Amino acid sequence: MSDNLLDHTADNGKDTFLMCPPDHFEVSYVINPWMAGNIAQGNHSIAMRQWLALVEAIAKVADVKLMPAMPGVPDLVFTANAGVVLGNKVVLSRFRHVERQAEEVYFDAAFKEQGFEVLTVPPELPFEGAGDALMDRTENLLWFGHGHRSDAACAAQLEELLDIEVQPLKLVDERFYHLDTCFCPLAGGYLMYFPEAFDAASQAKIAARVPADKRIVVGSEDALHFACNTVNSGRHIFLNQASDALVTELQARGFVVHQTPLTEFLKAGGAAKCLTLKLNEPQQTVLSEPH
Ligand code: ARG
Repeated sequence: MSDNLLDHTADNGKDTFLMCPPDHFEVSYVINPWMAGNIAQGNHSIAMRQWLALVEAIAKVADVKLMPAMPGVPDLVFTANAGVVLGNKVVLSRFRHVERQAEEVYFDAAFKEQGFEVLTVPPELPFEGAGDALMDRTENLLWFGHGHRSDAACAAQLEELLDIEVQPLKLVDERFYHLDTCFCPLAGGYLMYFPEAFDAASQAKIAARVPADKRIVVGSEDALHFACNTVNSGRHIFLNQASDALVTELQARGFVVHQTPLTEFLKAGGAAKCLTLKLNEPQQTVLSEPH
């Protein structure tokens, strides 16, 4: 881990992703439908190999910073849930389920070590970080998913803490329990998403804010392979698995798609994006084509 992450990202202009090695990763409880039937069904060495392959792929185009793995918190590997970052501020997660609450101190320490100003929502409001709060790539806008994990009342909190417009979206399919499982803003103002994971009013809001030619609608088969759970850095896209049709569609828009199997993490309900947290989120986002 570099001594001062914020200086580092400013220097080389690359994206920086926070990740946590799966040293203690396993499925040892069930807090989402993907975990059901998977307790103790994981293969640790395959998980480690898959995670290392993801790191290797991302590290070709971006910086990867590591935080230490800890025993007793198997889902710590999903750093997307550490908090939501904007500029030098981060709003720390407060997990809905007691099984994940012990992770909060480790994420807090990692952010402080990197020099972030750590903010919190009121104790009674569950909030699951960049699992549910995703920056738009063209507007100064934070998309916010609620309905399963984060409390809807966090929208107003985030607006105030981060001084940014927040667009709430209601999630209605329990398999897509975090926003980042079914919704991914991409470079160039594109949006890859699975509409059926949202209620009708939220689908209408998305359609009203994102022009039709920028919306990449994902079908259920790709969605269930966590294709929307994508890490995007410039024109590069890293995901577990995508159909030929989706790959072709993304390529036509200038993206380079890297498929890197993360089946061991699917058993816990996570994939590429869940395993990362983008640490450089500029306060003012600028419209840019994939480069
Ligand atoms: N087992 C974890 C949970 O249910 C998976 C988290 C996946 N993270 C994400 N950002 N979607 O909380």
